Amino acid sequence: MISEEGIPVHIAIIMDGNGRWAKKRALPRIAGHNEGMKTVREITRSASQLGVKVLTLYAFSTENWKRPKLEVDFLMKLPEEFLSTFLPELIEENVRVEMIGDMEQLPDHTKKAVQNAMNRTAENDGLILNFALNYGSRTELVQAVKSIIQDVKEERLAEQDVTDATISRYLMTGHLPEPDLLIRTSGEHRLSNFMLWQLAYTEFFFTDVLWPDFSEKHLLEAIASYQKRSRRFGGLS
Ligand code: FPP
Repeated sequence: MISEEGIPVHIAIIMDGNGRWAKKRALPRIAGHNEGMKTVREITRSASQLGVKVLTLYAFSTENWKRPKLEVDFLMKLPEEFLSTFLPELIEENVRVEMIGDMEQLPDHTKKAVQNAMNRTAENDGLILNFALNYGSRTELVQAVKSIIQDVKEERLAEQDVTDATISRYLMTGHLPEPDLLIRTSGEHRLSNFMLWQLAYTEFFFTDVLWPDFSEKHLLEAIASYQKRSRRFGGLS
């Protein structure tokens, strides 16, 4: 059972295990990604109903371009497919679609679909469904450092005013609270270049469940585990 008071404000998820889910069924990897997309719908709906404010989903990393072209092409079609089917439902649920990552390098059709969803949901003030798409944390940090240097040079920012809060502000998540809970599925225990700065005080929840099998029940388990933890942020409780 979870308590309504301690719902994490921001949940971030590394959605892993689509390939293994497909392999177990002798299906092509893309079938796993397709099934993973359905999980995105279920988890978005649950998060929204639970009152989570931000749900960040790691959908494609800057390293995922190394995968076979067929798989990359399929992954690049998923946002479009997902949004063409579920955008009306997201609008109905008052969800705001956002994204972090380098949008410029995305194929035009992917860019268009995401941009359209962002525009059409911009006024919504419910759950923020934040897709990390072509996202890499180290690239994000390099860009933030460069922007800070530029702003210091051009005297928009004083060097002595650069604090850790400044760095947070210059990241793509600058307007969002840091994640309270990180979930990674499929039994892997690593961050894979995901929100390295933002996860400094986040509670981690790892599960062996593969992403296509992850359901509301597992989300509630993760939240229940989170609610039992004592967050001290380096201090004493
Ligand atoms: C990792 O599993 C998963 C990905 C690289 C892609 C994640 C994408 C989705 C879940 C669908 C996204 C949906 C939308 C709406 C954008 P893997 O392929 O590395 O699995 P494996 O480790 O078992 O091979």
